[in-house]
Amino acid sequence: MIVVPLIERKRDGGVLTPEEWSALVAEYTAGRIPDYQIAALLMAVFMRGLERQELAALTDAMLASGDRLSFDGGGFKVPRIDKHSTGGVGDKVSLVLGPLVAACGIAVPMMSGRGLGHTGGTLDKLEAIPGFRTSLSLAEAKAQVQRLGCVLIGQTAEIAPADRKLYALRDVTATVESIPLISASIMSKKLAEGLNGLVLDVKNGSGAFLPEVDRGLELAKTMIALGEDRGCPTVALITAMDRPLGRACGNVLETEEAILALRGEGPPDLLEVTYALGVEMLIQGGIEKNTKKARKKLETSIESGLAAEKFEQIIEAQGGNPVEVYAAPRTGVVQRVEPRTIGRAIIALGGGRRTVEDTIDPTVGFVITAKPGDKVLEGEPIASVFAKDPDGIRTGFEALAQAIVIGDKLTHKPLPLVSHRVTRAGVEKLGV
Ligand code: URA
Repeated sequence: MIVVPLIERKRDGGVLTPEEWSALVAEYTAGRIPDYQIAALLMAVFMRGLERQELAALTDAMLASGDRLSFDGGGFKVPRIDKHSTGGVGDKVSLVLGPLVAACGIAVPMMSGRGLGHTGGTLDKLEAIPGFRTSLSLAEAKAQVQRLGCVLIGQTAEIAPADRKLYALRDVTATVESIPLISASIMSKKLAEGLNGLVLDVKNGSGAFLPEVDRGLELAKTMIALGEDRGCPTVALITAMDRPLGRACGNVLETEEAILALRGEGPPDLLEVTYALGVEMLIQGGIEKNTKKARKKLETSIESGLAAEKFEQIIEAQGGNPVEVYAAPRTGVVQRVEPRTIGRAIIALGGGRRTVEDTIDPTVGFVITAKPGDKVLEGEPIASVFAKDPDGIRTGFEALAQAIVIGDKLTHKPLPLVSHRVTRAGVEKLGV
C-alpha cells in the first residue's frame, strides 16, 4: 500500500474514503506500514479533523481489527453495561464502579487502558494489587462475566489491536488531544465488548485532554453518535477534572482509596462521581427506573458490604493477593482495638521481621475503620485484611477477632490523643 499520497491528502484538508481507512488500519495492524507514516497521518488528522463518514470508517476498521466479546446464545440475559472515562488524575472510579454496579445486578465487562499522557490508567492501578492478572483471554473474560458479573481487564491482543498500536503511538507523538482520535479509540474498544449500553465520563477542566467544556460536549456527542449508530445506547456525563479526583494520586494509593470507597469510606467527591455514573448504568440496564431509587440501591450495596465483597471475588478470580472485609461479629460498642495484637499479626502475615534476614512484604496488613466508642451493627464492615494467600486472610481474621472487642458499652475511656507536655520545668497535662 502506498501511504504517502494519503498522508498528503489528509495534510492538505482532503478526505479519505472508507475503503482507504479500512486498508490503512488493516495494513498498519498487520505491521506492513511503519509507525512513522502513521504518526504523520495522525498528526494530519489532529490538525485537520475527520469528516463524519471518515470517523465512522476509522472506528469500524479499528473495531474490525480484532475479535469481540459475544454473549449471543448461551442464555446469558443479564444486561451488560460499561463505563469509560476520557482520562484524568486520581480517577479511580472504574475500580469502585465495576464491582459496585455488578453487585447491583449489571454485568460489567470492563476493558480499560494504561496511563496516557498525564492521565492514569485503570490497568496500572489494578496491577498495583500483587498478582492481579489483567491480561485474560476473551474466553476467560466472558466466563468471569457470566460467573461474577464483572471482569476488569486490559485490551487483550484479540480486542481492537489497531487501537493498542495507535494509542501507544499517539502517546508519544502529541496526537492525543483530538476529538476524532479519542472517539475512535474509546468507541472501538467499547463496541467490542458486546454491550447493551455504555456510560461515558467525559472529563472537563484543566486536567482533561480537552479542558474546555464546549470541546468536551463535542467529544461526548461524537462518541454518543458512534455508539447509537452501532446499536449501543450511549450516555455521557461531563465531570470535573480541574482538580484531582479523590485524595490519592498514584497507582497503589489509588487502589487503596478505591477499596476504602467500596466500603463507604472514600472521599465524598469520588463517591459522588461514582454514584452519578452508577445511576446511569442501573437505569440503562433497566435495574431501576429513576435516579433516586438507583442511587439508593448503590448506597445500600456499599453499606451492606456486597460491593466490597464483589471486588474481593474479582481480585481472587484474577489471581490478585486476597483482600477481605472483616465484619462486626455482633451489634454493640467497640470497646478496644488492641494495637499489639494487630502489630503481631502484621508480622505473621509477612509484613514484619521475625529474624534479621527476613524480607518484608509491604503489601500485607490491615485497614481498620472501627475506633473505640463507635457503635457498630452485626455484619457491618469494620476492617479489611490484605494478605498473600487465604491462610493469611485466616490469620488476619483471627487477629481482628481478638483485637477488636465489641461489648454493650464503652468500659473505659480511650486515652486522649495528646495527653501530656513534658519540659524541664515539669509535666503539663493536656488531655486533648
Ligand atoms: N482513552 C482512550 O481509550 N483513548 C483515548 O484516546 C483517550 C482516552
